[in-house]
Amino acid sequence: MNALPAVEARGLYHIYREAEVETVALRGAELTLEAGSWTSLMGPSGSGKSTLVHVLAGLLEPSGGSVTIEGEDITRLPAPDRARKRRRTVGIVLQRDNLHPLLDVAGNVSLPLRLEGRPADEVTNRVEELLGRLSLGDRAGQRVVQLSGGEAQRVAIGVAVACRPRVLLADEPTGELDEATAGAVLDLLDGFRREGTALLTVTHNPLVAQRADRRLTMRDGEVVDAA
Ligand SMILES: Nc1ncnc2c1ncn2[C@@H]1O[C@H](COP(=O)(O)OP(=O)(O)O)[C@@H](O)[C@H]1O
Ligand SMILES: [Mg+2]
Repeated sequence: MNALPAVEARGLYHIYREAEVETVALRGAELTLEAGSWTSLMGPSGSGKSTLVHVLAGLLEPSGGSVTIEGEDITRLPAPDRARKRRRTVGIVLQRDNLHPLLDVAGNVSLPLRLEGRPADEVTNRVEELLGRLSLGDRAGQRVVQLSGGEAQRVAIGVAVACRPRVLLADEPTGELDEATAGAVLDLLDGFRREGTALLTVTHNPLVAQRADRRLTMRDGEVVDAA
């Protein structure tokens, strides 16, 4: 058992500067995600949830504080190293627009593996395994713009988990789906969690939050424990 938490965020601050306007989106946010755990994050619109997800994923460099993934501080890595680390260790699923519109289903799921330089037979096997698991086995060659919302989110999960990340971040992944479709997407996320990935779901939906092991709330840029 790996004793290190999958993710540790300490003292995160983030300030957006646009022209003369400064918005403090994170004010000392802290979070620990353990391997194999499911954490839900709720909170009012504008409380900093999406900013936190982007910082945890290494997509946004925080104004202050640190993010450590399995013991390595990714916050101050040079951008190319951060991108590489992210691809290997962090999967991210957003509400929409997760996919490359010019690639088909298999092309999307194989992209992170190909960027990692994995051997062609390994890429083929992993994509086939994932598409089967996501019930997309007959959709490999389909253009992603032709998919339903639920199918597109299943492909997005495939892309996110392709490189077997230590952490899976999902920001309103079911926000545009009906209840039954959302349930199927959550079951898939939970399946990868059971294999040891730390899962963080950001949601407005209390039913989603209920499925998590731990419920946290964000308020004014800080993470507070839910009641
Ligand atoms: N790219 C941006 N530029 C300027 N301000 C932003 C940007 N993204 C978010 N914000 C602001 O930062 C605060 C937190 O936003 P966000 O992290 O999206 O919150 P949430 O996901 O909880 O709704 C809000 O006040 C929002 O308006
Ligand atoms: Mg948001």
